[in-house]
Amino acid sequence: MRIIMLGAPGSGKGTQTQLLSKYFYIPFISAGEILRQESKKNEKTKSYIENKINQGKLVNNSFIINLIKKKIKKKNCFNKFILDGFPRTIKQAESLKKHIKMQFVIHLKISTHNILNRITGRLIHTSSGRTYHKTFNPPKRKNKDDLTGELLSKRKDDDKKIIITRLEEYRKLTTPLIDWFKKEDLKQNVKYIEINANKSIHEINKKIILYINKNNKK
Ligand code: AP5
Ligand code: MG
Repeated sequence: MRIIMLGAPGSGKGTQTQLLSKYFYIPFISAGEILRQESKKNEKTKSYIENKINQGKLVNNSFIINLIKKKIKKKNCFNKFILDGFPRTIKQAESLKKHIKMQFVIHLKISTHNILNRITGRLIHTSSGRTYHKTFNPPKRKNKDDLTGELLSKRKDDDKKIIITRLEEYRKLTTPLIDWFKKEDLKQNVKYIEINANKSIHEINKKIILYINKNNKK
């Protein structure tokens, strides 16, 4: 099972990825998470990555492609994986296609109003990447991670001004990828589905699982 999660910032890619990974027992690779961990390694990389993320801009295609390729090899996930937030440009998709046979593309479609509500209320556990929401998906204990009890925090790029740039980048660089995937679907290289991501976490998850179970047998 090889799943790609596509969608605007705050559409729920990370949330659904974690649920699907548990449900199907498959590893996941989150592009944003890899970049955030990578930025802790050395000063040069840190300033490049942080600069891009905190401006709301995408990092260079070859930079992220190399990191993802390494992760796929390391985690030995050529046949089963969930990719959260990769590819997000046609260049990235074409590069991935050379190495891996994609199977499902789950496109989470969401309104801008909901994006803003979700992103401004998000809380994260920095070391694991676990995500919560103050109102929609609160931790069991206020501001504490459910598993470790450590303090939760806000992502620096979850700032109203930066969100505007993130959305612009999505419109400019990622929306052309949607048509690219639709064409791949027509060629039967991939199964592409649009899911209404304005619904509850549980409803969305149920829909994705149903779709995958139905189409994985074919
Ligand atoms: P990344 O970390 O991937 O950020 P993003 O794409 O902007 O997406 P988010 O993580 O903000 O949202 P999400 O869709 O995962 O939503 P979540 O599940 O958390 O990337 C960060 C940066 O890294 C990029 O801006 C770029 O600079 C760089 N980067 C990453 N990948 C790259 C690539 N491929 N190429 C180049 N650069 C790259 O949910 C959001 C909130 O809503 C949470 O609080 C959650 O609890 C809540 N929530 C989720 N679902 C629901 C629901 N159904 N109802 C109510 N609340 C919900
Ligand atoms: Mg995410």
